[in-house]
Amino acid sequence: MNNLEYFFGDIKAVDNISFTVKQGEIFSFLGPNGAGKSTVINVLTTLLPIQKGSAKIAGYDLKHEPEKVRESIGIVFQELTLDRDMTVREILEYHGRLYSMPKAERQERVDELISLVELEGKRDTLTKHLSGGMKRRLEIARGLMTRPKVLFMDEPTIGLDPQTRIRIWDYVKDINQQGTTIFLTTHYMDEADQLSDRISIIDHGKIVITGRSWELKNMLGQDLIYLETGDNWAAGELLKDLDSVKGIKEKSKGIVVMVNVDGTYLLPEVMDRLRSGGIKIKAVNLKKPSMDDVFVHYTGRELRDNGAEKGAVVVSRVRRR
Ligand SMILES: Nc1ncnc2c1ncn2[C@@H]1O[C@H](COP(=O)(O)OP(=O)(O)O)[C@@H](O)[C@H]1O
Ligand SMILES: [Mg+2]
Repeated sequence: MNNLEYFFGDIKAVDNISFTVKQGEIFSFLGPNGAGKSTVINVLTTLLPIQKGSAKIAGYDLKHEPEKVRESIGIVFQELTLDRDMTVREILEYHGRLYSMPKAERQERVDELISLVELEGKRDTLTKHLSGGMKRRLEIARGLMTRPKVLFMDEPTIGLDPQTRIRIWDYVKDINQQGTTIFLTTHYMDEADQLSDRISIIDHGKIVITGRSWELKNMLGQDLIYLETGDNWAAGELLKDLDSVKGIKEKSKGIVVMVNVDGTYLLPEVMDRLRSGGIKIKAVNLKKPSMDDVFVHYTGRELRDNGAEKGAVVVSRVRRR
C-alpha cells in the first residue's frame, strides 16, 4: 500500500503510510491506542473508503476492485459484530456456508474452533447470553473459519487470558503455514514479538520503523546497561565517548546505556570510569533489549520531541536535574 492517508474531519488518523506485506508472512502493526491501526485495517478491508493513496491486496486494486478484495480476505474485528440471536454453533456454521465450505469440512472446522476457544459448553447458547470474553473468542473463531488469502486481525487477543492467547497464536501460525498471509494490529509487545515475521511500529498515524523483531532489538545495541547514579547527567557525559557505547537514553530515575559489545565484560570498565569520575553508583542492571525497550525507544517522548530521524539511534543529551 502506498501513501495512505485518512482523515476523520480535521483529525489525520493515518499520515502517509506505505508498506508491503509479503505473501505468506505474518505482519504486525504495533502501536498505542489512537495510533491509527484500526483505521488502516478498516480502509484495507473496504469498511472505510480509500481517501488518499492506493493499495493492492491479494493482487487486486482496493479502489477499483473492492469486491475482488472482499472475496480474498477474512477479518477478525476489534468490535464485536456477532448476531445476538444465533447460537455459537450457528454463527460458525452460517459463516462457513456464506463462504461455500463443504458440509463435512464445515462441521470439522466448527468443532475444531469451538474447542480452540474453549466454548464446548456453550455450543448451543445464544450469543447474547455469552460473557464479553466468550464473545471475543467467538469472534476470533468466526474469523478463522475460512482460509482466505489474507486474514486481517484487529487486536485479536485483547483482553484474553495468557493461555488462550498462546493457543490462538499457535493456531494462527498453523493457518499461516497453510498459506494464509496475515496482517494484524496489536498494542501487545509480546504478541507482535512472538507471532509476527515483521513488525511496523506505528505512532500518531505514521510508521516509525519496520523490521524483524531481532532487527529492531539489535538497533538498540547488543545489551542495555541500566544505571542509577548520584548524577545521571555527569554519568552520561563520562560514558558517551566510549567506543562500545551506541547511545544513552534518559529514564525517570536513571539512564540506559546501549552498548554493542557483551555488556558483562564492559560493565567493570563502566563502573571504574564512573567511580574515578567521583560518581556514586546506586543501582546497576544488565539486560538484552526486549520488544518493550524497542517500543519505548521508538515511540517514547524523546523521539517525539526531538523529531529524530527515522531509524537513527538517538544519542540524547541527558538533562541535568
Ligand atoms: N469514527 C471516528 N471519528 C472520528 N475520529 C476517529 C474515528 N475513529 C478513529 N478516530 C480517531 O482516529 C485516530 C486513530 O484511531 P484508530 O485508528 O482507532 O487507532 P488505534 O486502532 O490504533 O487505536 C484517533 O485519534 C481516533 O480518535
Ligand atoms: Mg484500534
